[in-house]
This record gives sequence, C-alpha cells and structure tokens, in this order.
Amino acid sequence: MPKLNENYLNVKDSYLFAEIARRVNEYAAAHPEQKIIRLGIGDVTRPLAPNVIASLHEGVDAMGSSETFMGYGPEQGYAFLRDAISAYYKSYGVDVDPSEIFISDGAKSDTGNITEMFDADNTILVPDPVYPVYVDTNIMSGKNITYMSGNADNAFLPMPDPNVHADVIYLCSPNNPTGAVYNKAQLKEWVDYALREHAVLLFDAAYEAFITDPELPRSIFAIEGAKECAIEFCSLSKTAGFTGTRCGYTVVPKALTFPAANGTEMSLHAMWNRRQSTKFNGTSYIIQKGAAAVFTPEGLAQCKENIAYYQENARIIAQTLQKHGVRFFGGVHSPYIWFECPQQMDSWDFFDKMLHEIQVVGTPGAGFGENGKYFFRLTAFGDRENTIEAMARMETIL
Ligand code: MLT
Repeated sequence: MPKLNENYLNVKDSYLFAEIARRVNEYAAAHPEQKIIRLGIGDVTRPLAPNVIASLHEGVDAMGSSETFMGYGPEQGYAFLRDAISAYYKSYGVDVDPSEIFISDGAKSDTGNITEMFDADNTILVPDPVYPVYVDTNIMSGKNITYMSGNADNAFLPMPDPNVHADVIYLCSPNNPTGAVYNKAQLKEWVDYALREHAVLLFDAAYEAFITDPELPRSIFAIEGAKECAIEFCSLSKTAGFTGTRCGYTVVPKALTFPAANGTEMSLHAMWNRRQSTKFNGTSYIIQKGAAAVFTPEGLAQCKENIAYYQENARIIAQTLQKHGVRFFGGVHSPYIWFECPQQMDSWDFFDKMLHEIQVVGTPGAGFGENGKYFFRLTAFGDRENTIEAMARMETIL
C-alpha cells in the first residue's frame, strides 16, 4: 500500500476557482433562463492580438514542412523568445540577461513548482490576502507558512517586520487579489530585508503591464540588490491574453546562491535548470512563436489596446463603487477591484447574494485568506457590455 502525501489532507477540498465554478454551474443548471455575468476568475475576454495570431500561423506552417519542422526545443525556451523578453525588460530600464530567463507554460505552474527548491524546514512568509496558489502549493509540500497582514490600514501592502525572520517571501505587485501596488521605496525595504535575513524573495509580476505610472516598479529587478535575493515570475496571460494559450517566464538570477549544510554553494539558477530539464520539455514551439510576436513594436501596441480596454472596465467598476460610497482598493494599475462587502457581509454570503439576486459572479475575499473575509474582488477582464450591465445590476443592491 502506498503511503500518500498526507499534506494534501491539509489543503481545502477544492481550489478556490473550482469551488466558484461549481456553485455557478449549479445555479446555472437550475436557472437556465438567467444571463449570468462572470467577473470572478481573472480570465481575459479580448481575442489575441493580430500580430500574435499571424506568428502562431507561421509556427504551425513551420511544423508542416521537413525543412522547418521543430522537435524537442530547449527546456529553458528558445533564444529568440528569451532575447525578446530581455529587450522588453530593457525598454523600461531593467537589465535581465536572456540566460537567466526560463520560458514556461505560465506563472501559476512556476510559482507552484518553485516550492521544490526549498526544504520543508523554512519559514515561508506569505501575505494575507493572497493568490491561493502560493499557500496551497506550500501546504502540499509540507511547509509551514507565516502570514503577514494586508489590511485597509496598510492599504493591503504589508511591509517587513524587523522582528520576524523569513527564509522565503512571496510578494505580488500589482497585487492579486487587492490591486494594490508597491512603490520603489517600499520594494527597496523588502529587498533590504531579504538581504539582511538571507531570504529569497519570490516576486510575482504577472500584472506589470497594467502599471501606467512610470515611477512604479514593474519588476523587482528595478530595485538595487534584487539580483542577489529575488526570483521573478511573469506571464503573458494578462499582458497579452494568453490565459488559454499558456506562456510565462521566470527570471532566476545566477547570483542567487546559498550554502548547503555541508558548505557546498548551491545555485538556484542551476537547480531550476536541473529541475526544468528533468521534468519539463519546454513550451511548444508554436506558442513561443506567438509569444515572441507580443514583444515586437506592433505586438506591444496591439496588446496595449486590449489592456486599455480592460482599464476602462476597471474605471467603470470603480465609478459605480465610488457613487455608492463603497470603499475599494486597486482598479488603477491593476485589473482587480477589491472592495468592502456592503453592511459588513461575509464575502461568501455576498457571493451568493450577487449570484442569486443579480446573477453577477465575483470572487469572495475569504478565498484569498482570513483578511479577505469581508471583502470582494471583481475583475475588469469582462467585455464592456457585460461590465456595464453588471454595474447597472449592482446598483440595485448597493
Ligand atoms: C485569478 O483570478 O486570480 C487569476 O485568474 C488566477 C490565475 O492567474 O491563475
């Protein structure tokens, strides 16, 4: 009889968005006549940019001819895409060497898989509220989590506590779920703290493309000292609408080394490379062809149009909340709007109320942690017509 990984007994029965889908599907089956508007999971609705589509077609055509056919690719990703990403970083003043970039099928996989690099005997510091993947994957691998409080008083931007030690720290900015964004001075404090504690900072930059203020950092590597303490995850899901296409990248600096118990210096870059080349055969050539087109001038301009569309949705949502005096966070440099449930309602109760009374789906804050219990998240990734209709419906219950 196998001994199973009993850490799975310690995670909730289902992943947050699977539970939401279950409740919505149950309601939809019982009320087929109702039009449900989904502003829950952060899934995009705009089609891929024309430049990306053209490049995907080129990739498909290449596979159909023996001269251009591609078999297994490099596990770390094709140089053409790593070079394009490095140039993209450079365009906003950040230096990242292509050899430190690893292409993947998305930030969710990488933020989950990175837990393999760390022993169970570590202090893992995670904000609350938080993207549930960081928490669930650490619990699955038997690690203990220390939470730091994000709340209305600190604008959902927890800062380091000099009295708390951490070995591994998770940060996400612009934040999922709260939409809050760290400024450079705040991230510098985090980098200094990580260096002092000899900790690794795991920085999720999946929403960087929503930042419009050039003073706000789009990468942890915009901060001095970060190459000595941080790994960055990024994704084309939200930047370029790749939620269904799947492509992301992770930057693991070569300077990130830590001594093993026997004194051997271990490199996180070498370990991640070893892990990926053993367990992953790379993102498909066709998808990497499409991804490279995102970083061309035309691709960037076309993706920016889609982002502007979502930013306008965020503005429409924020305007409705403002009109009704609902306190909210995010929605400016982020596709997420995080607001207080009316009348201090529990967020799952508010979820049910929204679904049953106005057929609008959001995400209950409780799904992101204790501190989200009385908060609710809406996404700006819906289409315009539905966003406007959802807000008209919300006006009736606010
Ligand atoms: C979310 O809704 O939080 C995101 O879609 C999650 C993700 O990107 O995996």
